[in-house]
Parts: sequence; C-alpha cells; structure tokens
Amino acid sequence: MRLLLVGFGTVGQGLAELLLEKKDVLARDYGLAPLVVGIADNLKGNAYDPGGINLRRALDAVAGGKSLNDLGGSRFEGDALAMINQAAADVMMEATYTDIRTAEPASSHVRAALERGMHVVTTNKGPLALHYRELKDRADQKGRRFLFEGTVMSGTPLLNLMRSTLAGSRIEEVKGILNGTTNYILTQMEGGLGYPEALAQAQELGYAEAVPDADVLGWDALAKVTILANTVFGAEMKPFDNPCQGITEISADNIAAAKAAGKRYKLIGRVWREGDAVRASVAPQQMDLTHPLAGVMGATNAVTITTDNLGDVTIVGPGAGRRATGYSMLIDLIHIGGLS
Ligand code: HSE
Repeated sequence: MRLLLVGFGTVGQGLAELLLEKKDVLARDYGLAPLVVGIADNLKGNAYDPGGINLRRALDAVAGGKSLNDLGGSRFEGDALAMINQAAADVMMEATYTDIRTAEPASSHVRAALERGMHVVTTNKGPLALHYRELKDRADQKGRRFLFEGTVMSGTPLLNLMRSTLAGSRIEEVKGILNGTTNYILTQMEGGLGYPEALAQAQELGYAEAVPDADVLGWDALAKVTILANTVFGAEMKPFDNPCQGITEISADNIAAAKAAGKRYKLIGRVWREGDAVRASVAPQQMDLTHPLAGVMGATNAVTITTDNLGDVTIVGPGAGRRATGYSMLIDLIHIGGLS
C-alpha cells in the first residue's frame, strides 16, 4: 500500500509514529506493508520518493525544525494538490487543518485523490461536515473507500460503532461531549485555573484546533454533530444550519455557582430525530453531578447513543491528541487493506 500523507502536523506525525511502531503487527496480523511515498505539508515542506520515505528521518527533521524539502533525494516542487495529482499512490491520508467555513484545501485534496483512483482516509472535519454526500458518491462511483473515523472522537471508534457495530439498530439520539479542548478548559477552570491559562495548556497538549476560536465558540463540536447527522442519521445539513453556543460566556463565577448547586457545565453536542426530521445543536448545559456525562473530565470525550434495540449505549474515550487521532487513521487503513 503506497500512502500519501497530506498534512504532517500533530495528527500526521502521530500516524507516522504508529506506522513505525506497528510495522510488524501490520505485516503479521493483517498482511499489510504500508509504504509512505509522499508527505506534503504547506508549512513543513514536501517529500516524494516512489521507493519510500524514511519516516524516522522525516519525523526527526520536523522535530528539529528542518524542512521536509531537505530530506535529500526526495524533493518535490509543488504543493499538496500537485503531489496528489502526480504521485503514484493507493491511499491518500488527509490530516490538514480543518476550516469549517470553506472545508478547503481538504475537500480539493479529497476530490483529486478520488479522481486519481486513490482510497481516502481523512481526519479533517470540513469535507465531512460540508460535502459528505458528494464525496461519498464520488468514492462509490470510483469503487474506492472514503473513511473518516478520526473526525469524531479521534481513534475512539464512535463512527464505526454506529455505522457498523450497531447494525440493525435505529439510532434515535446521540448526545455528548465532543470537544476535548472545551472540556479540558471547563475542568481546569473548576480546579481554579484562569481561562487563558487553561486554553494555553490545551494548545500545548495538542488538543486545540489551529485557530482555537473554533473550539471555544463551539464550532468544532458543531462540525462533529453535523458529521454525525449526515453520516449516521442520513441528514443533509451544513454546520451553521444549527444553533450553536460555545463556552466563552461561562465565567469562573458561573462554574462555582453550578458546583454549589450540585451541577457541572458541559458543552453538549446533540443530534436527534423529530418525526422525519433530524435536528442538531451545540450548547453548554448544567448537568447533574449524578449524570454519567458530568463525570467525564479533562480532554476526554463521551457520547450516549440512544437506540431502539439496546436503549442507551455510552462510549467514553480520547477525542483528540497526537497518538489517538493518528490511531484513527491506522484503523481506517487496516479496514481498507486488511479487513473485509
Ligand atoms: N480541537 C478538537 C478537540 C480536536 O479539542 O476536541 C479533535 O477534533
């Protein structure tokens, strides 16, 4: 499997580390030998080598502040789109930053890769939230897979759980904590830390979006509820069709008052059915401390899925971070190459 890694930030590097670490497992358990032939990153540079790029060297170069252009023997002139249009590869792994308003440049990357007959794996929420139906149709027409486990809850397999494991169940509602950064900030503020310090910590830990406004205004959670609505509930909605409120209005005093009343603020994303319609929203809620979602602290995510067959099923796990999101791409890759 020849791979193109498009986007070599936190997530792309997390994937590269896992490809190195899990090399033997992939070969032994799944018969897979992924070969990264290209890496393209607007900030970190580009490298292309049909014989395979040395991932250890690429990771070391980036860690040392060096450009991928200088890896030696693998220089590529042109941007990510040019590489997708020229490279010989089987799977394009898209992990560029999310722009929830334009879904670019990620959507162009996905379209180009599908056009060239590549399977696509992405952690980018933009293309899913804005163009899911169109991109899925393109992939189907080309007979290629279009997988995106990491877009919601990173490597915690929420989408696979709903899209395949719960086969034959009708999903009535999904409700939960879908943004790690805001949950981390609310947790730290309850512990006495100021908002700017808590946000800075979330950025350092690699949870926050490139522009953290997208987290604190609720847009990241909004993209995720839209992805759930479109890919699981069969809706065709855009993120800003839905009501959305973030955590920027919540003060330390609000948090203390909620605590005194036996409650805790959580930023809750929700998708539910109303007759034939599908609705979605994002808003802070004061949860009773006895509610299962109230006990989910730090950057952890949690979602309760209400089904006809099982009642409520709750999944709790990481929703962001280098290894957790890199792992989501490994799951998708194994599904493409090693699992039926
Ligand atoms: N900024 C996101 C979060 C990253 O904090 O959850 C994962 O989508």
